[in-house]
Amino acid sequence: MSYYKIQNFEQYFKHYNKSVREPRKFWGKIAEENFTWYQLWDKVVEFDMAEADIKWFTEAKVNIAKNCIDRHLNKRGDKTAIIFEPNDPTEEALHISYNELHQRVCKMANVLREKGITKGDRVCIYLPMIPELAVSILACARIGAIHSVVFAGFSASAVASRIIDSECKMVITSDGSFRGNKSIELKSIVDEALEKCPSVESVLVVNRTNIPVNMQEGRDIWLQPLLDEASDNSVAEIMDSEDPLFILYTSGSTGKPKGMVHTTAGYMVHTAYTFKNVFNYEDNDIFWCTADIGWITGHSYILYGPLLNGATTVIFEGVPSYPNYSRFWEIIEKHKITQFYTAPTAIRALAKESLEYVQKYQLSTLKVIGSVGEPINEEAWHWFNDHVGGKRCPIVDTWWQTETGGIMIAPISFVTPTKPTYATLPLPGIQPVLMDEKRNEIEGNQVVGSLCIKFPWPGIARTIWGDHERYKQTYFSTFPGKYFTGDGALRDEVGYYRITGRVDDVVIVSGHNLGTAPIEDAINEHPAVAESAIVGFPHDIKGNALYGFVILKESGEYRDRENLTKEINQHISDHIGPIAKLDKIQFVSGLPKTRSGKIMRRILRKIAEGDYSNFGDTSTLLNPEIVDEIKNERI
Ligand code: PRX
Repeated sequence: MSYYKIQNFEQYFKHYNKSVREPRKFWGKIAEENFTWYQLWDKVVEFDMAEADIKWFTEAKVNIAKNCIDRHLNKRGDKTAIIFEPNDPTEEALHISYNELHQRVCKMANVLREKGITKGDRVCIYLPMIPELAVSILACARIGAIHSVVFAGFSASAVASRIIDSECKMVITSDGSFRGNKSIELKSIVDEALEKCPSVESVLVVNRTNIPVNMQEGRDIWLQPLLDEASDNSVAEIMDSEDPLFILYTSGSTGKPKGMVHTTAGYMVHTAYTFKNVFNYEDNDIFWCTADIGWITGHSYILYGPLLNGATTVIFEGVPSYPNYSRFWEIIEKHKITQFYTAPTAIRALAKESLEYVQKYQLSTLKVIGSVGEPINEEAWHWFNDHVGGKRCPIVDTWWQTETGGIMIAPISFVTPTKPTYATLPLPGIQPVLMDEKRNEIEGNQVVGSLCIKFPWPGIARTIWGDHERYKQTYFSTFPGKYFTGDGALRDEVGYYRITGRVDDVVIVSGHNLGTAPIEDAINEHPAVAESAIVGFPHDIKGNALYGFVILKESGEYRDRENLTKEINQHISDHIGPIAKLDKIQFVSGLPKTRSGKIMRRILRKIAEGDYSNFGDTSTLLNPEIVDEIKNERI
């Protein structure tokens, strides 16, 4: 019996129980039957949760890029691996077959090697959603270099801090990027970032927008001529299961971003298995995930998961609103998309536009539609179900995180009955628990608590780059022996999970995971600012938006407040990126603090939400009078 694909609900429970009772047998069989290994493992899993030390498929040898491409060449060489849909709908889409992808990745692998990149080196990839992004990632994986993709919306200083943290030797970027009717000068952002990055020896530049760029001699080089010269023969590096595959930065509730490290074999098995099951991928399907490859969703479900299954996957360069709000629906019709995976923010933004935008297009090829990144509200769920899925397509509301590598809690399409706003049941191998404030596991159903996972799964990030202690502290210390997700959840009467949102200082804005601390740090660097506190508040389209409470250095009026608001947002944009801008800024004379000096964010959150009903216990506040002042001047 194979465990790779779950056929029905009864079988789900069988597989689930097997995965809990005999996780080694369960994952061992999946791994052995569905991938190509140079050498099999000694042990399926070894772990010490107290030390946050987790290893899967120990001592096995494998190359994930070969599993994504070479393995399919005999059977599916001519099949389209990647459909590239450009930003501008009048520019022709590209269909890249598995054979062509193989050739392109091998050439790129040779270019990287010629530029001195070897196994274990870090390569920062700062590219728009173009085929070269996929090719660069897969080429790194082929030669064992560790890719660190930085979303091409981040600012120069955010790029620099990520390059510095992981000491990247090379940057792969482009002259610019097209996003809707805008173009962004990526190369000049890289130039600015590199002023602070001594580890970078070379920069490969893709020509995408044809804008003039500065090329620093001895460091910067156009990629295409190198590819034209390169051989398309390249031997893949034999990797150990636990060799790092990539680093991807995610916001923390404190301090600098965390470079989550994902390793090779476990990530491969987890993303492939979850892709196959959650989306019910079948051979001629055309899968489209609208995320950017700069986030984990794109890593796992635009590239690795689909390619590991020999799928056809779409890379879309543009935005949902350009040239008009029909763009997504037009692409679904054009490429006959069968699975469509997007974020609640996009759904809400498109749902507020005229229905004609969606009704004009033929969406009947769709079989499964999915949502990820934040809780999907009831209204958005129904709109998605009625107008996109035609009430015919199961909606897979998939809960997971950068740290989990792949999907954790989600319906298996055509297997698990769905329920609006519920991520439903854990996938086989995933053992969620809800914890109470006293750190006890909450048994039974119809309960609410902090969501933890009590047994390792193959895709879990193994560490934070350069800071294992922080990894241990962040994820394994709040509830000893368990992985703490940072999310709250409820379990309904039948055991279905609904994720209620973050219980820490991370706010999900438009599906982007933003730590409030780094934004506060950025604001506090503004010369006029003494201190600040940021909280999230509900927003119709973005899910959450950011509300900043700012204390200025001089008491009373400080310059023009309107201008200052703009300046502060510009400051955030420069330090982090436009996604972290604040929707509201209120200048205050103080912040509610406990006697130990901690800002009582709970109160600020309530004020930002406009809910003054119950501030809870304020007896530990040092300055209770400030609460009324802030409340009365709320924007
Ligand atoms: O709060 C949860 C929310 O997004 C967080 C993870 O963000 P990130 O690491 O950027 O990864 C996003 C894409 C996997 C989680 O801690 N989240 C993610 N998916 C859902 C969700 N909240 C509710 N429902 C979901 N389906």
